[in-house]
Amino acid sequence: RKAYPSAVTIFGAKGDLTRRKLIPALYNLYIANHLPAIFSIWCVDFLPSDIDVFKKELLSGVNEFSRSGKADPRQWEAFAEHIYYLQGDFNKEDTYMQLKNEITAFETESKQRGIRMFYFATAPRFIETIAAALYMHKLCNNRNQHRIVVEKPFGTDLASAKKLNQFLVKRFDEKQIYRIDHYLGKETVQNIMAFRFANYVFEPLWNKKYIDHIQISVAEQVSVGKRGGYYDSSGALRDMIQNHLLQLLCIVGMDCPGAYKAETIRDAKTKVLKSVRPFTAAQVFKQVIRGQYTAGEINEVPAVAYRQEEHVAAESNTETFVAMKLFIDNKRWEGVPFFLRTGKSMTRQSSVIVVQFKDSPHKIFKDDIVPNRLIISIQPELEISLLFESKVPGLQMKLVPVEMDFTYQDAYTETLPEAYEALLLDVLHGDATLFMRADQVEAAWKVVMPVLDAWKKNPSKQLQFYKSGSWGPAVASNLLKPYAKEWFRLPSSEIVKKT
Ligand code: BG6
Repeated sequence: RKAYPSAVTIFGAKGDLTRRKLIPALYNLYIANHLPAIFSIWCVDFLPSDIDVFKKELLSGVNEFSRSGKADPRQWEAFAEHIYYLQGDFNKEDTYMQLKNEITAFETESKQRGIRMFYFATAPRFIETIAAALYMHKLCNNRNQHRIVVEKPFGTDLASAKKLNQFLVKRFDEKQIYRIDHYLGKETVQNIMAFRFANYVFEPLWNKKYIDHIQISVAEQVSVGKRGGYYDSSGALRDMIQNHLLQLLCIVGMDCPGAYKAETIRDAKTKVLKSVRPFTAAQVFKQVIRGQYTAGEINEVPAVAYRQEEHVAAESNTETFVAMKLFIDNKRWEGVPFFLRTGKSMTRQSSVIVVQFKDSPHKIFKDDIVPNRLIISIQPELEISLLFESKVPGLQMKLVPVEMDFTYQDAYTETLPEAYEALLLDVLHGDATLFMRADQVEAAWKVVMPVLDAWKKNPSKQLQFYKSGSWGPAVASNLLKPYAKEWFRLPSSEIVKKT
């Protein structure tokens, strides 16, 4: 699949996202021959920059962050010829007039009106300004070929997300708007759909009759680091739950879509969000745990408390950890709890989905049986495993749980593309399957709004502190009762392959 000649514009060219993710992803697409033969990348930012110095900065980003490692000098040289730097204030007309001249010249030269992609890698406060200017200058006025890509955060609550959606859909067709949630581009996340809907063996069991509960956990070892300014007014609920974890919930909880098509898939996902049982204010403090990290140690290195991080208020009540129990009120999931958890400065990185099946209703063995469990590891482990009971070899009927494993490492020789590679290529091809539609974003905000409201009214109520380098506040485990004692951990202590 080769896209048409493509004019890519990145607003916020000097930012972290461009250097760490976007340029490395475009470079990898280029060397793998996925970009069209004719393309240009305009990098726009308000700071002055010499083009050679700028390209050097980008190259250092590729060398540091690209999955393919250090860039090949020849390949980089050839790729970098397509990059231009445009110094411009996002608030000034000139910027867009100049950009229009450049893109028009590019399209005239390539003798085709191709794809235009405008990537908003900026602070959220610039989204409306840039969108309005693109509209005014008719830079993004072809509903089939011109696209904008909007990064999260998409609003800070339901009202602001709605306002932003209205603002954008007044100027562009919904089809032109690509709202990014990079979790959807992760290879292991995309594979959940394949796993569920291409293998008939699990789907008949994927419901309240056979499933006891589901855990979706995204533990991060990183702290907020340099992002304190943004994070302190955001918190884990907005930063992770509203988008990444609820999207994982959708993929795990959705019905089989009618076809592998953007709209059908997005319809099926939105249905899940709309069926999440709303929290009452009283339930919020029972079903949602919020935590904040204190000083501790991670990998034997001292780690500071959240309140001591740069640009974080000394008395901040912002949560860096959330665990919650929620229910999906529909025929498939009635009564099955979904436990979601995410946190920063935790003992290790581990994003994992655990589907815990019910106990067998009829017991014929003396041993305690550990119920079947399906473990989908998203990162850093890339694997799916099924826990089942097996007879220990020997003269007695003694059972232990063992695992059947699928790992990417053993199964494939291919390297995994980065999420941004998959997503950028999809934008060029006009495939919105892995992007958030307006109604999806709003439905996700609706799920978290009662929590945000309750916390706003009681800013410090039940804020639980946890040590950096731990698994989060101990009370987060109480939430699981009576379904489980603990959040699932890799490697599991239960899997002792005894003889
Ligand atoms: C981002 C959040 O969307 O996702 C960050 O803003 C978080 O706070 C990051 O660290 C996690 O992404 P990944 O791909 O590293 O799991």
